[in-house]
Amino acid sequence: MRLDKLLSNKAFGSRKEVHQLIKDGRVLVNGVKATKKDYSISLKTDIITVDGVRVSTEQQYYIKFHKPAGYVTAVEDPVHPVVMDLLPLEFKKMGVFPVGRLDKDTEGLLLLTNDGVWGHSIINGHKHVPKVYDLTYTGTLSDEGIQRIREGILLGDGTQCKPAQIEVFDSNQARITIQEGKYHQVKRMIGAAGGEVTYLKRLSVGPITLDGVEKPGQFTKIDTVEIDGFRK
Ligand code: URA
Repeated sequence: MRLDKLLSNKAFGSRKEVHQLIKDGRVLVNGVKATKKDYSISLKTDIITVDGVRVSTEQQYYIKFHKPAGYVTAVEDPVHPVVMDLLPLEFKKMGVFPVGRLDKDTEGLLLLTNDGVWGHSIINGHKHVPKVYDLTYTGTLSDEGIQRIREGILLGDGTQCKPAQIEVFDSNQARITIQEGKYHQVKRMIGAAGGEVTYLKRLSVGPITLDGVEKPGQFTKIDTVEIDGFRK
């Protein structure tokens, strides 16, 4: 694998930023300063460091899963069925964990990985990854409530949400895009605007969609081309 590809896969930055790291002499391969960005490395035998810290070259897996309702987003739970129950045991053995959380009654796109750096970079919100949800609600979403969602709604417990996009359709349906991942965020935003969510489905996380896993329970490994969409 190319040195610059490894480093950008490991969330050291965009290709351009990684090239700068190499140029600045901060990257060593087997103790020797790397000089070429397209330097070819062996994931099995080479030791790569950035600023003296070793970069893991273990194989990393990225999985997209269409979570059905009724499963808790966890690797294990003493009481409830968990998403890992629906995935091959090998994934558990690979140390794959869910990236963020969907509620038990929420369905849709859930990403899993054993790449802790990447997973946490998606969860911590600094990347502002847009997440799109379809929902059905009861009650009334007033124009004023919708406006507050667009401007950044204040939740009942005083939590301030960032501005979100929302489109409201007939039959009490809506599509909302948020860039955060607060606890029960969509349900609480709709609640603060006068509605109550009765059905929630996540359609996408950044550039990754449910394409190829249209049916609940389906999963597939995703290749790094899709993952690269997060690194820009
Ligand atoms: N917002 C929610 O309220 N629930 C989810 O599962 C995801 C986002």
